Amino acid sequence: MTTVALTGATGFIGSTLLTHLLSQGVQVRALYRPTSTSAPHPLESVEWQPGNLEDVNSLSALVTGVDAIVHCAGAVRGITLEQFKRVNTTGVSNMLKAAAEHKVPRFLLVSSLAAREPSLSAYAASKKLGEDELRAYQGRLSWDILRPPAVYGPGDREMQPLLQLIKRGIVPIIGEKNARFSLLYVDDLAEAVSCLLRAPQGENGRCFELHDGRPDGYTWPQIATIAAHLNGREPRCLSIPKLLMQIAGSANVSLGRLFGYQPMLTPGKVREIFHPDWVCDNTAISRAIDWQPQVQFHEGMKRLFSKGQ
Ligand SMILES: NC(=O)c1ccc[n+]([C@@H]2O[C@H](COP(=O)([O-])OP(=O)(O)OC[C@H]3O[C@@H](n4cnc5c(N)ncnc54)[C@H](OP(=O)(O)O)[C@@H]3O)[C@@H](O)[C@H]2O)c1
Repeated sequence: MTTVALTGATGFIGSTLLTHLLSQGVQVRALYRPTSTSAPHPLESVEWQPGNLEDVNSLSALVTGVDAIVHCAGAVRGITLEQFKRVNTTGVSNMLKAAAEHKVPRFLLVSSLAAREPSLSAYAASKKLGEDELRAYQGRLSWDILRPPAVYGPGDREMQPLLQLIKRGIVPIIGEKNARFSLLYVDDLAEAVSCLLRAPQGENGRCFELHDGRPDGYTWPQIATIAAHLNGREPRCLSIPKLLMQIAGSANVSLGRLFGYQPMLTPGKVREIFHPDWVCDNTAISRAIDWQPQVQFHEGMKRLFSKGQ
């Protein structure tokens, strides 16, 4: 039986990865921080390893004897590049050192489409630098990078307020009206990870973008049309001015510094949101593995809200 070391398993994407891998008969050893606000899943079949990405001993214990590593832990909130780098760059580097030391044959990194535009934000830059850490291991272990676009599904806290509004027939236009963006339902991402793990280890050192099956992504008017179908009535579209978002982002940074929390909406996040092109390309991943996304936005919204989210 394959044994996989998984990081980020207490988070939104990682917890779906965890249940998906278990359902495929994979044995999972998962890292969790005892300080986590999300309790580790009480699944008997999971071997939980306490620790964190800074604690190299815990990483060593995490990866000993495993067949593959899925590194999904990441910082998605924060202010400075240093804060993001500590997790998204040095964290990758620490995982790689543990992987090399224990001769783990396979390493999958859950990066982000944001890494395609590292100049936009500290988050994007830190994810790109994390990828670069992995690229430096070319020839030393078999690795691949996944660059998902915005991911949504049960358990997601970041996109949930926006999706709730859309469900209620209100579409906030956050970004340029004609901006295009890909989306991905979390179950499809989990299936892509397990397909990659099952695939024969021939080629590696690849960087895969992946979307939900809409090659041109979505525009806000298309999201409004989907909202109309979902709700059976025309939605109310509200344009959120960029200046307002920038002011909110700057205020959030000041408040985050004052009260010691890590904000999501920052000036960098606003630059990401207003970037006109977040469309991914599935060509490379479709050639490499037998993976077909199943859930486009209309279906994803139905699934999400039928689960009482
Ligand atoms: N959500 C998206 O739309 C999206 C899109 C593209 C890429 N991604 C990437 O996908 C990954 C997961 O994102 P997510 O949305 O699931 O985020 P999330 O819900 O915030 O989960 C983050 C996970 O990383 C763990 N973590 C953070 N810092 C850590 C550290 N220092 N040591 C050990 N574990 C640490 C967290 O543990 P705790 O429970 O202890 O905090 C949690 O399990 C990230 O790498 C992110 O960049 C996300």
